[in-house]
Amino acid sequence: MPAQRTRIKDLLSAESSGDVTGPVNVKGWVKTVRSSGGVAFVQINDGSTLADLQIVVDANCPDYSLVNGLTTGCSISADGVLQDSLGRGQKYEIAAASLELLGSADPEEYPLQKKRHTLEFLRELAHLRPRTNTFGAVARVRNAMAFGIHKFFQERGFLYIQTPIITASDAEGAGAMFRATTLDLNNLPQAGGQVDNDADFFGRPAFLTVSGQLEAEIFAQSMSDVYTFGPTFRAENSNTSRHLAEFWMVEPEVAFCDLDGLAQLAEDFLRSIFAHVLENCPEDMAFFNRFYDQELIQTLEDIANADFERMTYTEAVAALQASGESFEYPVQWGADLQSEHERYLTERKVGRPVIVTDYPSSIKAFYMRLSDDGQTVRAMDVLVPRIGEIIGGSQREERLDILQRRMVEAGLDDAPYWWYLDLRRYGTAPHAGFGLGFERTVQFATGMQNIRDIIAFPRTPRNAEF
Ligand code: 4AD
Ligand code: MG
Repeated sequence: MPAQRTRIKDLLSAESSGDVTGPVNVKGWVKTVRSSGGVAFVQINDGSTLADLQIVVDANCPDYSLVNGLTTGCSISADGVLQDSLGRGQKYEIAAASLELLGSADPEEYPLQKKRHTLEFLRELAHLRPRTNTFGAVARVRNAMAFGIHKFFQERGFLYIQTPIITASDAEGAGAMFRATTLDLNNLPQAGGQVDNDADFFGRPAFLTVSGQLEAEIFAQSMSDVYTFGPTFRAENSNTSRHLAEFWMVEPEVAFCDLDGLAQLAEDFLRSIFAHVLENCPEDMAFFNRFYDQELIQTLEDIANADFERMTYTEAVAALQASGESFEYPVQWGADLQSEHERYLTERKVGRPVIVTDYPSSIKAFYMRLSDDGQTVRAMDVLVPRIGEIIGGSQREERLDILQRRMVEAGLDDAPYWWYLDLRRYGTAPHAGFGLGFERTVQFATGMQNIRDIIAFPRTPRNAEF
């Protein structure tokens, strides 16, 4: 009866090799094979941890003859005993008692050879790149951060809700939605000279959601403290290192909360998830610190321990104008902050995360609460070094008449939003919420340059492979 597979992570985390008694079975994909003096050293990885496990196969192993056929990328199974390694570079190794080749990988064809590949090249190989150190580490950090996010909210009594992916309403009112349709685009049904939307699957136009916020607000207006964590979609033609057409967003929504309470929640939340990843992914974080950003761990530790800066949009504009920098986009009150401005504020002006509040109403979404000055809304963006905006949120407009006026100004047809307006008719209450871009957060935590390397299968303009 062959032993059950043991994960490499569990073997390597043993206090001493003697704690792992008897033969164990390991399985994984070969990274490298090296032979010397009739002994083969096979490094395998199973994804459970950054470190590879060395398997030592000598002539005493009845399957020694298999060693010649082992090449980078093939999958194997090995039984043996964990022992202290005499070689450098690893603490333990497996002395193989038996070996099995599960799947070969033709060395003439296997694209992931031992040498380092560029991240751009690996993007074309999204089906194989999780086998590399970098993408294995990204996958584990992403996993840990998702868990840390749920942990943060669950420990504070927030209810995790799932909001729809297909929707008829534009949560941001920005018109950057992908249409979801079953109509035959080569033969569109017509009615009165226009496309007959009545013939579509839902009997009306439907889209992929840009945000779960509006539905989260429904639940906040009954359950008080809720959050969503799901995929969102934006048909913006933005080809940058921080934009995806499909990305995941974490959206807490809190009743009886104003902007100050929300900003405090955002700060506590970010500090908690960075502390969580430092604590739970020490090897992977050391890897990113070594190969991608030598200040990474220090930066995250600082953030986990220091207060965020707060400033209003008006103060931010004044600071930018006084900076003496020559920005590509002009800075003037009323214009949206560009990424170069955001980065100046967080990287140069204060050197840590900044929460900018109270933006002009004209550049923000219709649902944000109008302030008494009639000019600004109770919005906030959380800006972090290297990334810029990582969180966008606001106190919501809970007053029916003002909300309706804002929708008219934004040119929105209020019919699809009837239920959203009803929430302001029946027991309306102050409430606030934000959206955290999950990939931007993992990008920040890993020091990776491009958001396309944070999500397994990035969707960007003209790219939906895999
Ligand atoms: O600022 P945004 O557009 O806010 C909302 O969608 C609100 N409805 C959230 C809320 O209040 N519940 O987006 C929130 C965050 C941004 O700060 C950014 O981190 C991320 O989502 N984000 C993107 N991430 C990757 N690719 C894109 N195209 C993104 N657009 C926004
Ligand atoms: Mg935003």
